[in-house]
Amino acid sequence: MQWYINAVFYELYLRAFADSNADGHGDFAGLRQRLDYLEWLGVDCIWLLPIYPSPLRDDGYDIGSFYGIHPDYGFLEDFRMTVDEIHRRGMRIITDLVVNHTSDQHPWFQEARRSKDSPMRDFYVWSDTDDRYADARIIFVDTETSNWTFDPVTSQYYWHRFFSHQPDLNYDNPKVRQAMLDVVRFWLDMGIDGFRVDAVPYLYEREGTSCENLPETHDFLKELRHFVDTHYPGRLLLAEANQWPQELLDYFGAGDEFHMCFHFPVMPRLYMALARQDRSSVVQILDDTPAIPEGCQWAVFLRNHDELTLEMVTPEDRDFMWQTYAADTHYRLNLGIRRRLAPLMDGDRRKIELMNSMLFTLPGAPVLYYGDEIGMGDDVTLPDRNGVRTPLQWIDGPGAGFSTAPALYSPVIGDAVYGYHQVNVQAQQADSTSLLHAVRRMIFARKNLPVLARGSLEWLHDLPLQTLCFWRRSAEGAVLALHNLSDQPLDIPLEPGIVFSDALYPDVGPVSGSVRLEAYGCRWLLPEAG
Ligand code: BGC
Repeated sequence: MQWYINAVFYELYLRAFADSNADGHGDFAGLRQRLDYLEWLGVDCIWLLPIYPSPLRDDGYDIGSFYGIHPDYGFLEDFRMTVDEIHRRGMRIITDLVVNHTSDQHPWFQEARRSKDSPMRDFYVWSDTDDRYADARIIFVDTETSNWTFDPVTSQYYWHRFFSHQPDLNYDNPKVRQAMLDVVRFWLDMGIDGFRVDAVPYLYEREGTSCENLPETHDFLKELRHFVDTHYPGRLLLAEANQWPQELLDYFGAGDEFHMCFHFPVMPRLYMALARQDRSSVVQILDDTPAIPEGCQWAVFLRNHDELTLEMVTPEDRDFMWQTYAADTHYRLNLGIRRRLAPLMDGDRRKIELMNSMLFTLPGAPVLYYGDEIGMGDDVTLPDRNGVRTPLQWIDGPGAGFSTAPALYSPVIGDAVYGYHQVNVQAQQADSTSLLHAVRRMIFARKNLPVLARGSLEWLHDLPLQTLCFWRRSAEGAVLALHNLSDQPLDIPLEPGIVFSDALYPDVGPVSGSVRLEAYGCRWLLPEAG
């Protein structure tokens, strides 16, 4: 089995992780000092958010140069040392690769906007009018009113799918395609294990289309995969494509495009199922999810650094999610909700564990978001998505153990429920009954059960709708995963004649006949051999 198929990923925002030089920003040296923690937690692969030089108007997704490290984070040599140290510990690392756009401060754009005759002009998409590609939706609806922005220097408009300071690269230009392969080569030569490739559906524009998922885009992505396979076999390409399952499937190609894709549609449905105490939406979306080629895998997640996106639900379901999880409209952003997992679950340990259990037992490789393993909170007073990107809370002490600087890049969460006095790594590591230990237990149980990676999925349809119960089976074994979405205990009848053991709590002894699930309870049962 390829390494990523049963890997546990950890999404890590370097600025928020650990500050080694007391300048208020996390950095590579800080990360190196904290690798013990990630190893202890059982992380297989770290995914680093963008680390490039950047004006930071989109937290590094606005790249100012593809060939360096933001000075807050250290030197390129620091990056290399970190990669080596991660590998020495048997872990892997992938980084964000932003292929669709650059910052408007990038030298390519600075040169391109200089004049219509600039040799770099064709690196970006220009137009005399702002009415082309009118069928392309606007993604950042809260900030942008058009995908075109007027550039007074040459009196033309440039195209951008995200912020207006992030011009889209022009993939019709072969030089752009080559330039991106050069970037890929540079970073893979540094020894990283692959990329999370940002915003892949939007590379090309064609009149009369939504400018998403175009055949030309897939052609380039296949070229990218071919390049990686030829020169760097075994490295991973993971796609961020916020699309419905049918469109997502195309990003795997015939096993010749991405190795992995985030399964965006399943994520909000886990929250919906819990709120409605009804599994139907999860069952439906996974039944609608086509089989993926050999050697491919889904990446599944509960939260990430962006708003909890509600793009892949119906307008009715979006309203339901907003009413339920963001009744206070400050929590809404674009088509989503800017909150972390623990507050979304009202801090209820049972629900947080239930959500994690579904994440770990349904198909796909789980991707955890830093801080959610201890139940960190969010800060809605911070703009945009910054409220879910606050410093990791290490200890109940100054700067939460993240930094000794007098001023931090962001305030630490300090409220009475989720603040660092109550919620921190140190206290939870010392307490075997903590959320952190519960999450860690799932990580290690999961690693011992490769059937959870690619085994078949068989629903237990006869059980009440308040349950999400299913078998995962493969030649490597079988797991019966049981989840109670309701606030009442439920007794689940088990197949007669089978004796089970408990994969999460092996000490509880054999289980047979039936099993009680407490309110919001979950069990991972293993049929005993023989
Ligand atoms: C990233 C966002 C970013 C956007 C534009 C995304 O898909 O996840 O954080 O704002 O790309 O770069």
